[in-house]
Amino acid sequence: MAGVPMDQRDGWIWFDGEMKPWKDAKIHVLTHGLHYASSVFEGQRAYGGEIFKLRQHTERLIYSARQLDFQIPYSADEIDAANRAVLEANKLTDCYLRPVAWRGSETISVPARENTVHLAIAAWVWPSYFTMEERLKGIRLMWAKWKRPSPETIPSTAKAAGLYMICTLSKHAAMDAGYADALMLDYRGLVAEATGANVFFIKGDEIHTPLPDCFLNGITRQTVIELARAKGFKVIERHIKPEELSNYDECFLTGTAAEVTPVSEIGDFRFTPGIGCKTLIDAYTDAVTPKRQAAE
Ligand SMILES: Cc1ncc(COP(=O)(O)O)c(C=O)c1O
Repeated sequence: MAGVPMDQRDGWIWFDGEMKPWKDAKIHVLTHGLHYASSVFEGQRAYGGEIFKLRQHTERLIYSARQLDFQIPYSADEIDAANRAVLEANKLTDCYLRPVAWRGSETISVPARENTVHLAIAAWVWPSYFTMEERLKGIRLMWAKWKRPSPETIPSTAKAAGLYMICTLSKHAAMDAGYADALMLDYRGLVAEATGANVFFIKGDEIHTPLPDCFLNGITRQTVIELARAKGFKVIERHIKPEELSNYDECFLTGTAAEVTPVSEIGDFRFTPGIGCKTLIDAYTDAVTPKRQAAE
């Protein structure tokens, strides 16, 4: 069951340059971002008081806004500082942070060049999507009926609200059928990603992962590729057909929220989380732990 509703919590939300009491961080019902999905966001985690890959997330937020033809009225340095201020104001060290930028309410029709652009940043304690026990057993995925769209259909490399409509639909269908999540194919029928995480497959010392040419090239994905190479795995980014999944022994998801989460099942395909997944869970845990804390 849901806990305290997201608009009823205590704490502070950075909102257009001011720290506002959580319950007062409101927008008008005629906001362009709400009607036309002119909204982009980030998901970041802080570990031991440090926001992992903060600058990369901030740069992706600015990039996503540009993809939607708007400019966030703060510099990357200002956005980074605002994120750190949110941690401090809420006295949080291990949490999730959600910056969101959107077009405001000056006009409400498709064109929106006159609308102001807003930025808010909230943070809350949000443990991994899955418990460690669930993770090590591997989660069960079903195939989504929705396909990741072509980059000619939508700005698919942006982390933009509109791209999540089919993620919510796919996740609901998976949960209704007793699965943890859904794996989406792309518009060509190739393996793409889960509803909020990227996917990897392991066979021996090789790791294969879909080329992110029509979905988010996750920051965790990029981190795990580096870590896997450093651990001696050969990482191959390529187009993967769904029927090829029977070639792999292990499978896992990566994402800021999911971190590294092994998968035991995708439709009729079975995987057994093993040493490959464990090695990468440990390597990721080590990578996100601030080094000063690890040294204590
Ligand atoms: C659709 C989708 N794909 C992939 C990812 C993984 O991205 P990251 O590792 O940058 O969190 C996310 C999470 O943000 C996501 O929502």
